[in-house]
Amino acid sequence: MPEAEKIRVDLTGAPQTMLATLYAKALDADAEKPLLGDTWAKDAVRRIDYDWRSTSITPRNQVGVTVRTVHFDNWAREFLAQHDRAVVLHLGCGLDSRAFRLDPGPEIEWYDVDYPEVITLHEQLYPSREHHHRVAASVTDPAWLQEIPADRPVLMIAEGLTMYLTEDAGVALLRAVVEHFPSGELHFDAFNALGIKTQKINTVVRRSGSTLHWAINGPDDILSAVPGVQPLAAISVFDSESFKQGVSGGYQVMGKVMSLVPALRMIAQYHRYAF
Ligand SMILES: C[S@@+](CC[C@H](N)C(=O)[O-])C[C@H]1O[C@@H](n2cnc3c(N)ncnc32)[C@H](O)[C@@H]1O
Repeated sequence: MPEAEKIRVDLTGAPQTMLATLYAKALDADAEKPLLGDTWAKDAVRRIDYDWRSTSITPRNQVGVTVRTVHFDNWAREFLAQHDRAVVLHLGCGLDSRAFRLDPGPEIEWYDVDYPEVITLHEQLYPSREHHHRVAASVTDPAWLQEIPADRPVLMIAEGLTMYLTEDAGVALLRAVVEHFPSGELHFDAFNALGIKTQKINTVVRRSGSTLHWAINGPDDILSAVPGVQPLAAISVFDSESFKQGVSGGYQVMGKVMSLVPALRMIAQYHRYAF
């Protein structure tokens, strides 16, 4: 694509980090055996004018991001298979193409929510789609949720988001979602206290200049803070099927070694709750 026609992107802080996750998915799509095969991500990367090398994501390490997205796609598919009429809140969506990848049915109202600068890019890069809505707001602003219809079950997906929120704001968000809808599920990933403490070794976070805040050490942190939710799963990334099946060689060994130390095993977790 001619450089002049590309969309210039200049983001800092948390919004910048979604460029790294987007690029990881684009590299996966180019791999010999893609895990996710997200051609939307590949096309978006092609249309954005950005120094992608600055993300620190490579064809080798992209798998660390991609297995997470595969995992949340699988959980979302399970929910959608049981609920053909629901609301999906895709929070901190970045430029993830999940609404297009999963292609939900006509009775699913899908909301992609992120900061205004990210949503503007989303509008430029993705077509409009029936029953798909974009919300340009901080997820911690209580106003946007009040506009979402509350007459059906909800699936809240927050991939790569909770750690950017303060604990107070994150808990308030989960409580607000649970109070707003009659029933539903909450799917999100989390870092434990060690993950937050060692954030400076996370190149994507460090280069963006953002700061991680909320440490979630296990399901009890959520159960004690958010009334009405029941745990469905809270697992180490290393125990997820997508990690076991998706990574090879050095990453398998790293996962096994890290799993021997409880704080390292739970450094990054996937959580799922029902209410
Ligand atoms: C690591 S990226 C993940 C993007 C996407 N979920 C993915 O997995 O590719 C983090 C995203 O969370 C968004 N984010 C962080 N804090 C937010 C907030 N308070 N409100 C809305 N979006 C937020 C950022 O703008 C960014 O798009």
